Amino acid sequence: MDVLIICCCLFSIVFADDYFVSNRRFPKNFKFGTASAAYQIEGGWDADGKGENIWDRSTHLYPEKNSYQNGDIACDSYNKWEEDVELLKGMGVNTYRFSIAWSRVLPTGFVNSSNPAGIAYYKNLIAALKANNIEPLVTMHHWDIPTVLEDLGGFTNPEMQEWFVDYARFLFEIYGDDVKEWITFNEPKQTCEHGYGTGALAPNIVSPGIKDYICGHNLIIAHGKAYRMYEQEFKNKQNGRVTMVIDSNWFEPASDIPEDVEAAERNLLFTYGWFGHPVNFGDYPEIMKERIASRSQLEGFESSRLPTFTEEEKQIINGTVDYMCVNIYTSSMASASAEPVIKPLNPDRDSDIGTNVFQPDDWEPTVTSWFKVVPWGSRKLVKWISDTYGHPEIMVTENGYHDNGTVIHDIDTRGRYHKLYLSNLQDALYKDGVNLTGYMAWALTDDFEWQYGYNIQLGFYQVNFTDPERPRRPKDSSEYYRHVVTTGCLVPEEECID
Ligand SMILES: *[C@@H]1O[C@H](CO)[C@@H](O)[C@H](O)[C@H]1NC(C)=O
Ligand SMILES: *[C@@H]1O[C@H](CO)[C@@H](O)[C@H](O)[C@H]1NC(C)=O
Ligand SMILES: *[C@@H]1O[C@H](CO)[C@@H](O)[C@H](O)[C@H]1NC(C)=O
Ligand SMILES: *[C@@H]1O[C@H](CO)[C@@H](O)[C@H](O)[C@H]1NC(C)=O
Ligand SMILES: *[C@@H]1O[C@H](CO)[C@@H](O)[C@H](O)[C@H]1NC(C)=O
Repeated sequence: MDVLIICCCLFSIVFADDYFVSNRRFPKNFKFGTASAAYQIEGGWDADGKGENIWDRSTHLYPEKNSYQNGDIACDSYNKWEEDVELLKGMGVNTYRFSIAWSRVLPTGFVNSSNPAGIAYYKNLIAALKANNIEPLVTMHHWDIPTVLEDLGGFTNPEMQEWFVDYARFLFEIYGDDVKEWITFNEPKQTCEHGYGTGALAPNIVSPGIKDYICGHNLIIAHGKAYRMYEQEFKNKQNGRVTMVIDSNWFEPASDIPEDVEAAERNLLFTYGWFGHPVNFGDYPEIMKERIASRSQLEGFESSRLPTFTEEEKQIINGTVDYMCVNIYTSSMASASAEPVIKPLNPDRDSDIGTNVFQPDDWEPTVTSWFKVVPWGSRKLVKWISDTYGHPEIMVTENGYHDNGTVIHDIDTRGRYHKLYLSNLQDALYKDGVNLTGYMAWALTDDFEWQYGYNIQLGFYQVNFTDPERPRRPKDSSEYYRHVVTTGCLVPEEECID
């Protein structure tokens, strides 16, 4: 073992600031791709029969919550999808992660009326990807609930479970012969915590510690039911896989005292585990159940603000991811905090966790306050997921770097970010035994970044959002990523070893 480690160090190159960059080659069958979401790139918000979704409504009715910008046109990928496929082909990726806009194929959300133009849009996209040997990795819900369903309560209405299953069946019937990799939900923590808790994201409902948990509950059961339906009705003939994408920071203990170690673990369980535990083990993490129940009691509630799964629901959701996915951007430190004073009738998720979470000032900043560059956190997070969930296959389904979108020469910023994160992820794969099988960089192009509008960007291609043609222009990082995906090497190929 020692010898092996020494070899690795000898063959690694030292990056400018003491980071080692692995010179090993990723496995031949590693899935390299980029990721996107319908609302962020498509535009065509009311084109050809598309229905309104909660992001159309939020950006139109509450522009102040969305940097006074919207995705009405965005990258115009509704019209320019062929050009995007050409860019993907030029980059050499073998996978493309994108989402289907529910309200484009089913304008009201219900399956009783579908939109042929919307159905054709994704049919054509999928066919073009496959013709170029790019595997589609398809997200069914990337935050854009049809407003008809939201007006009925959205994820706070248990009927949403069945509406989602109907939508999923509709997608499997139409696209399932061509799509073998399905993601039900993207980042349910964001959907629920910020859609129904803090209100920062559409549908902008403010109900912290209550509706966020109800949303999570219905979403998890919706996922489980859709998974079972695929298993029963499609798996035999289509033979695809179904999973969920969960996002989390890595939480590093602020010190090695047991209270801080426990504080970091508790954050991971309340963040990744909120969804990861139910779909793997059939229930929420014990610590979530205990803390929310006891705080609810102190606040005067008759029962816990965290809903309870019935035995039947536990069986439905238990073991419903064919592999694990994680979106990684940054990390935080966590330390124990003195138990906060209970404010009656003032529930919220952060108080339920009850720790201090912060990022040290000397961590490398980006343009976004919460986003520090912490490459080593990515290795620790996938290792934690691997250890916690019994060494499953894991895919990183998002990872990318924020800047203000004006920087074309981004090798030392965005290029370096992907290089350092990938190097750490490769260490997880080769040194820690994590079964990491793919990496989807966010993003192919600049796009509409939700509440930030167009003010922050992560693309390998710049898009001029004031030009009606929405031209794409390569940033230097696109060339670096092309090198990585075509050679499997983070360093120049002549320095790379198998
Ligand atoms: C579809 O079903 C919804 C909900 O039951 C109903 O409101 C709507 O009128 C139906 N649409 C059509 C075209 O039948
Ligand atoms: C989930 O399934 C596993 C394996 O069958 C089982 O050990 C576990 O008890 C189940 N969880 C729940 C909450 O029923
Ligand atoms: C990793 O996952 C892949 C895909 O599920 C599987 O084929 C492979 O055997 C796994 N490798 C290890 C070492 O578990
Ligand atoms: C964008 O970021 C770059 C690099 O940090 C900086 O030089 C430039 O002034 C910024 N532009 C705007 C409009 O903030
Ligand atoms: C974007 O497009 C507008 C309109 O065509 C043009 O005036 C502007 O110079 C372009 N900006 C960049 C950075 O190319």
